[in-house]
Amino acid sequence: MKVTVVGAGNVGATCADVLAYREIVNEVVLVDIKEGVAEGKALDIWQKAPITQYDTKTIGSTNDYSKTANSDVVVITSGLPRKPGMTRDDLISTNAGIVKTVTENVIKYSPEAIIIVVSNPLDVMTYCAHLTSGKSRNKVIGMAGVLDTARYRAFLADEIGCSVKEIQGMLLGGHGDTMVPLPRYTTVGGIPVTELVAKDKLDAIIERTKNGGGELVKLMGTSAWYAPGAAAAQMVEAIVKDQKKIIPVCIKLEGEYGIDDCYLGVPVIIGKNGVEKVIELQLNADEKALLETSRKHVKDVMAVLDQINAK
Ligand code: NAI
Ligand code: 2OP
Repeated sequence: MKVTVVGAGNVGATCADVLAYREIVNEVVLVDIKEGVAEGKALDIWQKAPITQYDTKTIGSTNDYSKTANSDVVVITSGLPRKPGMTRDDLISTNAGIVKTVTENVIKYSPEAIIIVVSNPLDVMTYCAHLTSGKSRNKVIGMAGVLDTARYRAFLADEIGCSVKEIQGMLLGGHGDTMVPLPRYTTVGGIPVTELVAKDKLDAIIERTKNGGGELVKLMGTSAWYAPGAAAAQMVEAIVKDQKKIIPVCIKLEGEYGIDDCYLGVPVIIGKNGVEKVIELQLNADEKALLETSRKHVKDVMAVLDQINAK
């Protein structure tokens, strides 16, 4: 299996490294527009192989997409990250131009590839790549929910004092402050989380999860990469190993949850065909209202992309 990661910055290089050292695929191609950066990072990852013992071949390319030909999956991380004081939505016009060009290059050489978008604003960049590619919706999807649920699960493990491996969590909606963590669908070793964590503590964890990206931007002056890179690699793994994993993924909704023509995170079954099924949870009135707020926000940002495309 061959995977291309576009963008050899913090997230892309981390994703390529995880794909390599965990031997998720046989070949990783890292692409960047900055001369030499992708080649250098790919060589560094390959030179780590004899030390930590893996055989995944990693090569780099400065904007030469012929090296990416016949990739099974392509991860798009190219674009600007957030700086302190910026929202993800502030990145839209620059990153839309980048994601559009990259998608065109990718499908020219790998028309069958499944595309995983990571660039922000995530939901709208997934829209941009989907629109540009003309592919079916199950093959152009966005990574956010794996990261956001990981943050939620890490905070819960700290609060409960248990292994992160015991925590199963789910959330819906856009990748941003309007995301909708779902305590009713969160369990710890099979026990509903509400039995183990008091309401005020749970509410605080949900708020911290919603602001999880911003917390790291404040600390580091740029956005996170270890968890985001690993989250994208986990989606690649689910596809190339046909794992049928149930995870939250950003996809165009076509009537599910009563929502049409909007790109939002929802639980799906993911396998060799990309998204193989969108799972529709029964939501209560409060959860429906939160999802509607998220839908409206993403639709507003989608409209900004439509205006840019109309110019
Ligand atoms: P970074 O600045 O470290 O890396 C971005 C890379 O993209 C740079 O190396 C740059 O040269 C490259 N690039 C720019 N234009 C390109 C083009 N046309 N073709 C190929 N490469 C190009 O940024 P970082 O931290 O890796 O973040 C990347 C993106 O991922 C940002 O938009 C960030 O907001 C987003 N992100 C999304 C997350 C999510 O949960 N969906 C989580 C973390 C970051
Ligand atoms: C994150 O959530 C900024 O989307 C990026 O870390």
